[in-house]
Amino acid sequence: MVTGSTGLLGKSLCPMLEKEGFQFWPCNSKIFDVTNTKMVNEIMDKISLDFIIHLAAFTNIDLAEDDPEHAYDVNVAGTRNIAKIAKKHDIPILYVSTDNVFDGKSDKPYKTTDATNPINVYGKTKLQGEREIIKATKKFYILRTSWLYGAGGYVDAMLTFSNFRKEISVVNDQIGCPTCADDVSRKIIEIIKNASPYGIYHVSSSGSVSWADFTKKIFEIKKRNVSVTPIDKSDFPRPALRPKYCVLDSGDVLPDWESSLEKYLTAKK
Ligand SMILES: NC(=O)c1ccc[n+]([C@@H]2O[C@H](COP(=O)([O-])OP(=O)(O)OC[C@H]3O[C@@H](n4cnc5c(N)ncnc54)[C@H](OP(=O)(O)O)[C@@H]3O)[C@@H](O)[C@H]2O)c1
Repeated sequence: MVTGSTGLLGKSLCPMLEKEGFQFWPCNSKIFDVTNTKMVNEIMDKISLDFIIHLAAFTNIDLAEDDPEHAYDVNVAGTRNIAKIAKKHDIPILYVSTDNVFDGKSDKPYKTTDATNPINVYGKTKLQGEREIIKATKKFYILRTSWLYGAGGYVDAMLTFSNFRKEISVVNDQIGCPTCADDVSRKIIEIIKNASPYGIYHVSSSGSVSWADFTKKIFEIKKRNVSVTPIDKSDFPRPALRPKYCVLDSGDVLPDWESSLEKYLTAKK
């Protein structure tokens, strides 16, 4: 079962799973609402599964501040429901989590063993989701990633933007690691195929960059004439706090962010 199949990561992962010959049930909120405990229990008794990839989440960081109950329902209660299925069927579950479980006060990349301390509702609920998984089963993979881009995401939005505008202001004092959804999908498949050891994994591109420099690089690679003005986070207040420095120490499991971005953009017309 793949929850969240219609999301940014799901849209990258599902076609790859299909290519690899996996038989799977892709679901989104319309056909399988993870917060609907009654429905989850009914389905749980009827289906036979051997692996769960749990991508479904409330991912809008700013909306989560305004509607913490909804974020909690999906990210915590929903994850608890899905973890129960994994426990009942005694099957592995892979849960995708986020760099937002850290506070961003570090000056070096976060290791899987570093203390978590989320500073926004989204991060808090995703961390609680991790705990629900760990509480339910020993057969878990928690895969934390960051700044995902893929079909319809930030990079694509910047390319569309460049068709209409020649100047953009982008935050410069928030550092992270942009990661291509395809790279994470490949890693997920590798974990499943290799039956990798259970536990927490950090899976981001290597290196780090600010949003402003990342955006400049997108326009540079695609030769778009858009000038990027770096601004401070304080010039662009938003409901949710963002970790200032949120780089995951992934042990170079993925290529560096620049070469992944280049590959992604080169493949685009
Ligand atoms: N995007 C990032 O930068 C990023 C970074 C780090 C970690 N992550 C994590 O990676 C995972 C995938 O993220 P994403 O960017 O692909 O998310 P996304 O694009 O926001 O998609 C969310 C998915 O979850 C589904 N969903 C939402 N509420 C649901 C519910 N109540 N029941 C069942 N399904 C529900 C949505 O289905 P509908 O289409 O029906 O709404 C959609 O398929 C998430 O766990 C997220 O926390 C994302």
